[in-house]
Amino acid sequence: MDFSIKAFNTKNAIAEQKTGCVVVGIFENSKLSAQAKILDSKGILSHALKSGDITGKAGSTLLLHTTSGNAKRILLVGLGPETGISDRNFISASQSVARSLASLGSIDALIALPLDGVQGRDAYWAVRTLVLALRESVYRSDSLKSKKEEVSTGVKRVAIGVENAHLAEARKSLAQSIAIANGLELAKTLGNLPPNICTPTYLANTAKQIAKEYKLGVEVLDRKQLEALKMGSFLSVTQGSEQPPKFIVLKHLGGKPKDAPVVLVGKGITFDTGGISLKPGAGMDEMKYDMCGAGSVLGTFRAIGEMQLKLNVIGVIPTCENMPSGRATRPGDIVTSMSGQTIEVLNTDAEGRLILCDALTYVERFKPAAVVDIATLTGACITALGHHNTGLFTRHDEAHDALANELLAAGKVANDTAWRMPIEDSYQEQLKSNFADIANIGGPPAGSITAACFLERFTRKYNWAHLDIAGTAWKSGAAKGATGRPVPLLTSFLLERAKK
Ligand code: BES
Ligand code: MN
Ligand code: ZN
Repeated sequence: MDFSIKAFNTKNAIAEQKTGCVVVGIFENSKLSAQAKILDSKGILSHALKSGDITGKAGSTLLLHTTSGNAKRILLVGLGPETGISDRNFISASQSVARSLASLGSIDALIALPLDGVQGRDAYWAVRTLVLALRESVYRSDSLKSKKEEVSTGVKRVAIGVENAHLAEARKSLAQSIAIANGLELAKTLGNLPPNICTPTYLANTAKQIAKEYKLGVEVLDRKQLEALKMGSFLSVTQGSEQPPKFIVLKHLGGKPKDAPVVLVGKGITFDTGGISLKPGAGMDEMKYDMCGAGSVLGTFRAIGEMQLKLNVIGVIPTCENMPSGRATRPGDIVTSMSGQTIEVLNTDAEGRLILCDALTYVERFKPAAVVDIATLTGACITALGHHNTGLFTRHDEAHDALANELLAAGKVANDTAWRMPIEDSYQEQLKSNFADIANIGGPPAGSITAACFLERFTRKYNWAHLDIAGTAWKSGAAKGATGRPVPLLTSFLLERAKK
């Protein structure tokens, strides 16, 4: 899909644009938006509104075919109450526009919505919302089908109309939004790939490709190097697998050389059978999505690489498979992590924390400004928050409240929300082991919190936040597929940091 920004210089410019379809907004109670009023010189729009076919309810649409004027079609889209467009209503309108344009017999369209009319948001936000909705509507996951879905219709060239005053802001947003869409799409594609293709080696090669394209630093450590680093916890997870483990380090150094980097750590289990603590068979295929944390780090690096973000960001991905075999780790095994802490593996299905803890120790060397780990860590997080919010965990002190608030705000702006959960010492007690420093499970109560508490013990040398994306990284059922979350949250977080 090709995007451009079009400035409306004079009041009438919208009517002078030659296009296959012009998109304008309608408010509740059949009120025309400013651009719609300009288009309505011959009364076509008022006439359509009188018919009652569209009322202005957010997300409703009506397509009109014209015989005069420069636009062959006019797509009316409802924006809700005129008193101020809410985030939700603008998002819903954007998705409806995307759906309608995807089935038009026209190659181009001009979107002329009130980009500065969303309450508490700016044109930058509105352009991004439109671009992400449009790109989402044309995303396909049929790369491995022998017969691809025929898509002969649909708009390929989209111009977004803006008032002159917002031109610079809209242009900047467009460039960054396309980068975000590209990153989001990479995260989705990696998530959706089958586990026989998307192996640890495949993720490592993807990281190398991104590094080459955007001139980033990249390093991939193999088993021998991980042994030398004494990553006994990470290595215990990969023991049962025929696929070699990889430890990926990506460096985007867009900031000042002396600035402490933000470090992103992504869980990269390319398939989670549970190991010897084998998972039930039903739905196990979805454990190919257990690398979505890693996918979101790669997607975010693609996005910040393309937008040449002026910030130092390091991405770290421990990646392997969790398989049962004669060589696999047993429940009851005690392993020694890179930090020196010993871990009793009471359940081999609690493997995410075992690979992350060594990565979290490894990143101490970067003297990070902040570390954010992203992981499909616990089924319990789905029970707690469902599929709407990512779980956010940090310690509860002033510095961490600030970090948590940055991440929460980034999620809100990006429509990729998180919800903060508690980490308290009382939960740490559930991780007591009679034989090692710590057990890798804390029993059924508060499963996502005890998982976070486990990670917390390895992060005491820096500011740290943990995102549990078990409920948000992919959808099940008929709409099965990766969502690309939390690439929008992470890129918004980094964009804000780059402004400081
Ligand atoms: N990858 C899973 C978490 C998961 C499960 C995410 C289902 C999304 C859907 C993780 O490795 C796991 O198996 N966690 C266990 C932990 C338990 C053994 C303490 C879980 O959540 O059941
Ligand atoms: Mn597991
Ligand atoms: Zn897992």
